[in-house]
Amino acid sequence: MPCTVVAGAFWGDEGKGKIVSYLALKDKIDLCVRTGSVNAAHTVWIEGKRYAMHMVPAAFTYEKCRLLIGAGANIHVAKFLEEVELTNVKNRIGVDYQASIIEEKHSEQDKTNAHLKGLGTTGWGVGPAIEDRVRRTAKLAKDVAELKPYLTDVAAETNNAIDAGKKVLLEGTQGFMLSLFYGTYPYVTGRDTSASAICSEAGVGPTKVDEVLLVFKAFMTRVGAGPLPGELPREEAVKRGWFEIAAGTGRERRSAPFNFEIAKRAVMINGATQAALTKLDIVYPSCKGVRKYEDLPLEAKEFVKDVERKVGIPVVLIGTGQEALDIVDRRA
Ligand code: IMP
Ligand code: MG
Repeated sequence: MPCTVVAGAFWGDEGKGKIVSYLALKDKIDLCVRTGSVNAAHTVWIEGKRYAMHMVPAAFTYEKCRLLIGAGANIHVAKFLEEVELTNVKNRIGVDYQASIIEEKHSEQDKTNAHLKGLGTTGWGVGPAIEDRVRRTAKLAKDVAELKPYLTDVAAETNNAIDAGKKVLLEGTQGFMLSLFYGTYPYVTGRDTSASAICSEAGVGPTKVDEVLLVFKAFMTRVGAGPLPGELPREEAVKRGWFEIAAGTGRERRSAPFNFEIAKRAVMINGATQAALTKLDIVYPSCKGVRKYEDLPLEAKEFVKDVERKVGIPVVLIGTGQEALDIVDRRA
């Protein structure tokens, strides 16, 4: 457990926010680093209240957890400050000096730049901000007055915590199939989203990681353009109760059944050692709220076994409802 990377297996929205918020509470995580950017919304339900976090790590749910945003991340300053206020984490959140900044113009460029037309980006400006970073013209966190109180060396803090045996989570954003390198190019995001990239953005080397927890949803969804193997017609998705509206953008998500080939490839390239399977209660409604494996209905257990058999790693966490604690936890 000391250092666990949490990554998404499909097109984002697998429930990483729920898994990270659960682990933070259950395992009393000492430190959590969020990677990526504001285009990803991580939904956390805690005591009936819903949070959709675009910047603050989902581990805010455990009040002693140190929250960090890595050097590889891109900061939307206004959204960051708003969420820090909302979650009341001012005294325990830090941003790396070298994280780069999304400016007003980037969001404009996301909507108007011809080369991005038809990709269905989230419109937050993350791609254009990364373009500026690659050009070596980006503004960095250390250049922003409002971020002064939060600046820190995230890599140093994180490696020191790991070396001291503390419990550390590296919170990935988006999903493997949106990876710039391994996803459905050009219908992808502007960065690699795999476990290795999450480590790199946080400043943690591969020898320091103990577990890679890959998060699958019991069915697949996708927002924006690009292929979705096995895509269901909208009416069928509605009928099955799989129809979703995106937490970040309010856009409709397309959906499809769980795809074992995609899942296997995601396990391979992420070097996954463990799986989480969320929203099992959406596919098998009688799972709702169940917290013990033996209380799951037979067909749901069969599905879990099938996933384990076909993708080759244990399903250690199973999501059975929206609340952070609606989980079957099969870890020893
Ligand atoms: P961008 O990341 O805003 O440039 O968007 C590129 C593609 O990735 C679009 O299809 C978006 O809908 C998708 N995307 C980006 N972030 C997320 C996410 O967190 N969840 C789901 N889809 C995302
Ligand atoms: Mg999301």
